Amino acid sequence: MTTATPEFALLPQLQCETDTGIATIPLSEEVAFGSWQKTIPDAYWALGADELTARIRAARVTLGSRVVILGHHYQREDIIAFADERGDSFALAKYAAERPESEYIVFCGVHFMAEAADILAAPHQKVILPNMEAGCSMADMASDPDVRAAWRELGEHFGGTEDIIPVTYMNSAASLKAFCGENGGVVCTSSNAEKVLEWAFERGKRVFFFPDQHLGRNTGHAMGIPIEEMALWNWRGPSGRLGGLTPEALDRSRVILWQGHCSVHQRFSLTQIEAARERFPCVKIVVHPECRYDVVQAADANGSTAFIAKYVAEAPAGSVIGIGTEINLVSRLAKENPDKTVFCLDPVVCPCSTMYRVHPAYLAWVMESLVAGEVVNRIEVPAETKQHAKVALERMLALK
Ligand code: 13P
Ligand code: SF4
Repeated sequence: MTTATPEFALLPQLQCETDTGIATIPLSEEVAFGSWQKTIPDAYWALGADELTARIRAARVTLGSRVVILGHHYQREDIIAFADERGDSFALAKYAAERPESEYIVFCGVHFMAEAADILAAPHQKVILPNMEAGCSMADMASDPDVRAAWRELGEHFGGTEDIIPVTYMNSAASLKAFCGENGGVVCTSSNAEKVLEWAFERGKRVFFFPDQHLGRNTGHAMGIPIEEMALWNWRGPSGRLGGLTPEALDRSRVILWQGHCSVHQRFSLTQIEAARERFPCVKIVVHPECRYDVVQAADANGSTAFIAKYVAEAPAGSVIGIGTEINLVSRLAKENPDKTVFCLDPVVCPCSTMYRVHPAYLAWVMESLVAGEVVNRIEVPAETKQHAKVALERMLALK
């Protein structure tokens, strides 16, 4: 962790233990490999960081402009080093929609992001996800059958769904984006959620928002919607029970929030913010809107990963900034801004374990396979899903 001056040295309890533990080690030594994609050839298992870097670089040179590598801000350093474009999920989706030059898009991020790229890319482009097990636990909290069942129940309760606009966070399966496309809905990301909800309220009385309750609640609150008018739909309970809500709670709701969350961002707390403010009275706190409502309320600013990066870059020299988001990004921002004190609010926060699955061995494998003329780990959204999902994504991209 970088500190600007000795007087800003951090308390041990404010330092993130994982900050020094995110360097690349061979796949065979990665304890987490147990739950990762195993079909990678044996030859890649024992390679160390330097050899992997050299091999990816060589493949990169051979492939030239036939390949573009996209890297989400949460990717580890040894992956980001190869990203032609890095960004938040909105910027990377936009990139995929607007650059038909490269035949291959290697998406260093998670499954839903690669799906969105495939939906938006030109037909001749092939999208590749280095590790097929790089998913998102939040996206997994909203399954297609559960969302469709809830939608039916809402329709029965309200006597139709014409006045309800479904809005899915980008962090969701392609089939749910298609569901929104088919039902007059739209996709949002953390960088445009307010704009998207405004669009939705121009078309309906209520918004059905999934899968992240926190982004939905934080955005609704920022738009002036009272908390009592945001109902929480418990998808884990038995069906036919209105998601555990009373008919009255549903009737007064303007936003119906799916009970999903991000396990990384749920770790940030008010106590951590109070500790940081006590230690550094001048500290600025910036968090991702996937954090809980009380955390976002106590922060000085909140926004997407790109917003957080910009916030830190634009802060005056000597600033002290506590961040509530994933550690790879925080640690990179600390390194890139040596004139500021940048730290993670959670002293023991782990990286997003699914983003972390994109180990350089997988990137080397997919790149060398392309050099050999073989496409491995292609993400291909089925044609019908793609058609409807594209409608919902393009509605979002069209918003100014
Ligand atoms: P951004 O769109 O802000 O990059 O967020 C993606 C994400 O998964 C955050 O957890
Ligand atoms: Fe999903 Fe959370 Fe990881 Fe983002 S940080 S990809 S929401 S699990």
